[in-house]
Amino acid sequence: MQKKLFPRARPRRLRLNQTIRDLVSETSINKSKLIQPLFVSDTLKQKEEIVTMPGQYLYSSDDILSEIDELTDLGINTIALFPNIESDLKDISGSEALKEDNFICSIVRQIKKRFPELVIITDVALDPYTSSGHDGIILDNKIDNDVTLDALSKMSINLASSGADILAPSDMMDGRIGKIRDSLEKNNFKDTILLSYAAKYASNFYGPFRDAVGSQQTEGISKKTYQMDSKNLKEAYKEFLLDINEGADILMVKPAMPYLDVINDLSQKTSVPIFAYQVSGEYAMLKLGIDKKIFDHNVIPEALISLFRAGSSSVITYFARWVAENYDNIS
Ligand code: PBG
Repeated sequence: MQKKLFPRARPRRLRLNQTIRDLVSETSINKSKLIQPLFVSDTLKQKEEIVTMPGQYLYSSDDILSEIDELTDLGINTIALFPNIESDLKDISGSEALKEDNFICSIVRQIKKRFPELVIITDVALDPYTSSGHDGIILDNKIDNDVTLDALSKMSINLASSGADILAPSDMMDGRIGKIRDSLEKNNFKDTILLSYAAKYASNFYGPFRDAVGSQQTEGISKKTYQMDSKNLKEAYKEFLLDINEGADILMVKPAMPYLDVINDLSQKTSVPIFAYQVSGEYAMLKLGIDKKIFDHNVIPEALISLFRAGSSSVITYFARWVAENYDNIS
């Protein structure tokens, strides 16, 4: 009787060297899949580093153009733009957001004029404009859903007519995708893409972003009254279905790494592209760990790969520029 052979299956054969590992790798990152968020100030004359996000800047309206110039040279062709508005312009209802010639609209126009091929994503939410830092309008000590929807629709038309290619409602009001889609159709913006922050969790990882746009909440109301509870997965599917039915083109899961199960679950259940947002706190955590030499920069591709492996089609990441500077592709 022949002696039983030692296991014929040896997974390690496929790990022998980098070329073989690359041949069998299941996931890769191409920089065309990375979106760089950028913060722009209506008052600064020169860019300033964001203290809680080392390596990220609050740009002046001039500096942002040179930054985009460099990004596009590096092959990053999509940005997500966030305004930091001086506090004098903020009020309880975020009325500055509704003005057709406000700062963000003029910046979008300037950027589009100089970079017609660049894809610009703009947030649709009131938080940069409200004195409360909330994404909606407060009535009777609550964030009023339907009054907020009217403001978001108006804001969306302003942004679309300024040249934003993708509108990203990040406010988590109910029914906003349908309402915004109707307004866009009515105003003949038939090609404007809606990227819905559909599964946006009430997260503690947004802190540094709120420093960057100046939207730390001052009121007693919690964002938990509209953003999702981190304990829920099935509810994310409910939000996805609603937004697909209301006319969203792309759906977002946010934050990213603490919610890999959500990305994975939804990418199997739905056929729309899913974007993940590696948020400010995730960035800060990795960046500070690298700067303090707790680990090296290889945590960046590892963290990003996890998002693609889970099923993201593209990723919004503050590391987009860094990846483009350091890799052709990550495979
Ligand atoms: C606001 C908005 C937030 C982020 C994107 N859009 C923060 C919030 O809801 O308070 C967070 C992004 C990040 O943390 O990088 N509508």
